[in-house]
Amino acid sequence: MIRTIEWTEAGVVMLDQRLLPGEEVYRTCGDYRAVAEAIRTMVIRGAPAIGVAAAMGVALGVRNSSAANAAELDADLTRICDVIAGTRPTAVNLFWAVERMKKVYARTRSEGIEAVRAALVREAQGMHREDVEANRQMGRFGQELIPQEARVLTHCNAGALATAGYGTALGVVRAAVEAGKRIEVFADETRPFLQGARLTAWELMRDRIPVTVITDSMAGHLMARRGIDCVIVGADRIAANGDVANKIGTYSVAVLAKENGIPFYVAAPVSTLDLSLADGSQIPIEERSPEEVRSLRGVAVTPEAARVCNPAFDITPHRYVGAIITERGVARAPYAESLRALAGPCSS
Ligand code: MRU
Repeated sequence: MIRTIEWTEAGVVMLDQRLLPGEEVYRTCGDYRAVAEAIRTMVIRGAPAIGVAAAMGVALGVRNSSAANAAELDADLTRICDVIAGTRPTAVNLFWAVERMKKVYARTRSEGIEAVRAALVREAQGMHREDVEANRQMGRFGQELIPQEARVLTHCNAGALATAGYGTALGVVRAAVEAGKRIEVFADETRPFLQGARLTAWELMRDRIPVTVITDSMAGHLMARRGIDCVIVGADRIAANGDVANKIGTYSVAVLAKENGIPFYVAAPVSTLDLSLADGSQIPIEERSPEEVRSLRGVAVTPEAARVCNPAFDITPHRYVGAIITERGVARAPYAESLRALAGPCSS
């Protein structure tokens, strides 16, 4: 299995996804600020992987803290959590992970600094394990929606690289292949960061799952020519009514799928649900540097001073979503009810 992220004594080790597919370089983040920078600059990316990285970053920050007493440690924890939570605004897994670490801290604080440190490391490692298990379960539920032979279109990278392992949307693909189904994946290249061309193609080729890369603008043509049987994507945040925030371009794919009568599915863990938001209009959309659009790997593709915009995510309204596959089961419309039932009574 691809090692996306790992806790080690030396720090948090991550595969640098900016360099793939050309180079496989592992970076060790020795302090929480380095973890925050890695999340911000997309050394690691993908909502569930960001969540695990955030948890490990908090654990690392508290482990390295020189606080002499509980009050100093409280102040350190607040600073660490604020820095990590300030990295990327859309993926709710980031905030979910930080909140979960804060709860562990509050629960163990009275037991002394060493007990707190050990509990936080244990929690972060547990979140890593849980994420892989959730993805495998999601795969088992999701693969039942995939025909025996299918050409599956995906957007961005919702694979092993975007999670602690196995993947969400690509986890469903992997589970379908493991169930003996004949699957061919079409990967949108996913401008501007090219997660589809660089990452989805790389990890599926490693697993010998047939994959064809297309530019984002080719999806409609393929669908119209009956070249796609279903679409599966991941998510960064899902509102209470089932509106889905995912990589920029997902909305266009969903509209094209509906126009062509092709099922559009979303695979995401329950930690990606944000039932505190009534609908997708309330989900913050990250705006990234214009340089990501102006150039490709350092080579200018626009006039130097061209005005560009770079929203990193968009919202797919729930009416386009055929099903939301989670590790607790498959939700169908009306999502306000089905998501609430999957999330359980305690969720906000
Ligand atoms: O900007 P990124 O690469 O972090 O965006 C990733 C996505 O949009 C993924 O589809 C989403 O996080 C789900 S990953 C399982």
